Amino acid sequence: MSFLSTAQMMFNAMTKPKQRIAIQEIPHGRVIDIGGGGEGVIARAGGAGVVAIDKYMSEIQEARERAADASWMVADAIELPCQSHSFDNATAFFSCMYMPSDVKEKVFRETRRVLKEGGEFWIWDTYMTPKRKAFAIRLQVDLPGNHTINTAYGVKAKDQSAASIGRLLQDTGFEPEIITNRKHWFLIKAKRV
Ligand SMILES: C[S@@+](CC[C@H](N)C(=O)[O-])C[C@H]1O[C@@H](n2cnc3c(N)ncnc32)[C@H](O)[C@@H]1O
Repeated sequence: MSFLSTAQMMFNAMTKPKQRIAIQEIPHGRVIDIGGGGEGVIARAGGAGVVAIDKYMSEIQEARERAADASWMVADAIELPCQSHSFDNATAFFSCMYMPSDVKEKVFRETRRVLKEGGEFWIWDTYMTPKRKAFAIRLQVDLPGNHTINTAYGVKAKDQSAASIGRLLQDTGFEPEIITNRKHWFLIKAKRV
């Protein structure tokens, strides 16, 4: 992304109202968190039960300091270095927005492979259109135990909605249900079928 696009993205983020997300729970058992670096939101909420995967060591280093109890792994989620059926559940917190559709599809198939029968994949993410070059969203995330994270995520804009992610989930062997549907973000819980 060029310097101009990055500057535009930062400006977009700063001028938008902050979206508030309360994470009351994360799925039980051994959980794989896809794209878990950056703020490490799910690792902070879930602690020792979470194995957080990220493509970039730099993103993991940033997050690991804040969630030392979780396990961390550098890997591209299109090819997870994990055994099939080895996780109870999976999560992705504002990671799909970083993936083009073809990558999302591969990541969903791979996530399904490592999930146990009946496991759930919880996805928090945002609505985006490619009308502008850059997209950004500002969040206040409330975690259990009165912890609050203030952050902003920005990417090259692409087409994404709860419906488009739901369709991809269906195509890759999940039964999705939209649990929360706000103007700027959504939570989908998808059951492995
Ligand atoms: C900026 S973070 C956003 C949120 C992050 N879950 C958190 O708690 O802050 C999105 C992460 O997804 C990661 N990511 C994107 N595509 C990925 C892929 N194919 N495999 C693994 N990680 C990926 C990025 O490296 C980035 O760290």
